Amino acid sequence: EKAGYKHFMAKEIAEQPVVIADALKRYVQNGALHLPAEVDFTAVDRLTMVACGTASYACHVAKYWFEQIAGLPVEIDIASEFRYREPPLSPKQWALFVSQSGETADTLAALRYTRDKVAKIVAVVNVPTSSIAREADLALPIMAGIEVGVASTKAFSCQLTTLALLALKAAQDRGRLTPESLAQHLSDLAAIPGLMNHALALSTPIAAIAEELAEAQDVLFLGRGAMFPLALEGALKLKEISYIHAEGYASGELKHGPIALIDNRVPVIVLAPRDPLFEKTVSNMQEVMARHGKVLLISDAQGVAEAGSDCWKTITMPQVSDAFAPILYAIPAQLLAYHTAIAKGTDVDQPRNLAKSVTVE
Ligand code: F6R
Repeated sequence: EKAGYKHFMAKEIAEQPVVIADALKRYVQNGALHLPAEVDFTAVDRLTMVACGTASYACHVAKYWFEQIAGLPVEIDIASEFRYREPPLSPKQWALFVSQSGETADTLAALRYTRDKVAKIVAVVNVPTSSIAREADLALPIMAGIEVGVASTKAFSCQLTTLALLALKAAQDRGRLTPESLAQHLSDLAAIPGLMNHALALSTPIAAIAEELAEAQDVLFLGRGAMFPLALEGALKLKEISYIHAEGYASGELKHGPIALIDNRVPVIVLAPRDPLFEKTVSNMQEVMARHGKVLLISDAQGVAEAGSDCWKTITMPQVSDAFAPILYAIPAQLLAYHTAIAKGTDVDQPRNLAKSVTVE
């Protein structure tokens, strides 16, 4: 069932071009968004998104899309905090719950807390028969197929893809998108599976970098904008399966504390496509290098040409639209964690202390 792969995680990373294409096929038809009729954001004034772990990082990426493309305010909570915080909810808002398994106890309890308090409860799930799918007003499957590896990979990128399409629908309903810019966004998304195939081909050079990364005690991941939550996800993936301590930070936050950690033993992984914020990230990178930190720059050819020369390592990614870059950059983040775990000899599919589905609080 591993289809020739050594681990489920490797298989599931490699499946991403196909499953993302499946999600796009389901929700885009004849060049137009094709979501269930109930997905109408016209009267929605706010979105509250609730999830745990990797699913919550997918929400944090999607917040950039809902706010920047659709102008819809988004609030995000970790499910274990949400209902105890007793957040005020508005009858005009929607609550959106993201969960691969659809059985996460805290997320389910958070969903129940919102019942009768919001206009609509939407679930973005991988398992369509799950409790969270059944208890929501509307469940949108992410089309990832069964995910066996405990560390979530293809579910994350399919959550992102589904949320991107929802954000585009919100933008359309709220009159924020011309037909031309919608068509451009849809063609940018349609390009992702092909670009992912190129990114997957970087597995061998990433494995070589991972051999050295495996020596580290601490690793920092940096990103700006929608790449910031991807930095959090990259760090979570690395700690889950390689047991190396890793933290993600917004690049601009570095000088407010974490830079104190930097010395010549700390690899700093910078997720930075050549977008309008790139130059700011480069100056954060230089601050790291001035303190002898080892920078691994993950960017496109232009970014690597402009800023890669003094880096410890670089990974050159294909060029991708600014907005949807986090979906593509999930691949090197996952491959780095995977190969680092292999180099350390840890159990990739069944990391210690973790369960695939967390059904207790
Ligand atoms: C990380 C991971 C966990 C889950 C979290 C939520 O690789 O797998 O952080 O993302 O436990 O699980 P679901 O999505 O099933 O609610």
